[in-house]
Amino acid sequence: MKYTLAFDVYGTLINTSGVFNSLEKMIGDKAKLVMDTWRNKQLEYSFRRGLMNKFVDFSVCTKNALEFSCQTFKVNLSDAQKEALMNEYKVLPAFADVKEGLQTLKNEGYKLYAFSNGSANAVSNLLINAEIIGLFDGVVSVEEVKVFKPSPLVYEHFNKKTGSTKETSWLISSNPFDVVGATSFGMRTAWVKRSSESIFDSWGIEPTEIISGLTELSSKLENY
Ligand code: LAC
Repeated sequence: MKYTLAFDVYGTLINTSGVFNSLEKMIGDKAKLVMDTWRNKQLEYSFRRGLMNKFVDFSVCTKNALEFSCQTFKVNLSDAQKEALMNEYKVLPAFADVKEGLQTLKNEGYKLYAFSNGSANAVSNLLINAEIIGLFDGVVSVEEVKVFKPSPLVYEHFNKKTGSTKETSWLISSNPFDVVGATSFGMRTAWVKRSSESIFDSWGIEPTEIISGLTELSSKLENY
């Protein structure tokens, strides 16, 4: 079947570690710690915002999380440096396997969507910058339902927006919380495990498939 594919963006198509080099120039040895805490806090803030029914643009979660991370590690960045990092978040690079993987799937007739916590505008600009926008049939943002992943409402919204159903769509993500959310909602899922170090949540809610890069997806989908 020619499934409708929902690709997570930050961490799956787009490498959020792209800020590492700039951070290292600014703060040296603390760069990894600050970057990891920044990312984890960004996601925590989106979860909390969702639970509180206080939706904001995802970039606000990103900005607030950078602030938290800097304070945690007693890192003194100027406003200009923080702004530079936030701007870099708008032009993060795609992972190396993404373009080829998407191109193959597109050639095979699958419908490809970027599906993100980020605003449609921010996501479109990222995909333009990474030169992969032309491979997508569209961008679906959670901003239209004003709640973040992994609320079941966002996966339902994806289906509505793209004219697909749980049965005819897959969620492809490197983020375990996203995979668990979509699986629990009832979609088929592929967890992109690019590093052998990545750990999946042991909740007993498993991805349909595990792949180490997007170039492996097409052959997996043939089995369904
Ligand atoms: C996204 C975040 C969760 O793009 O990675 O939706």
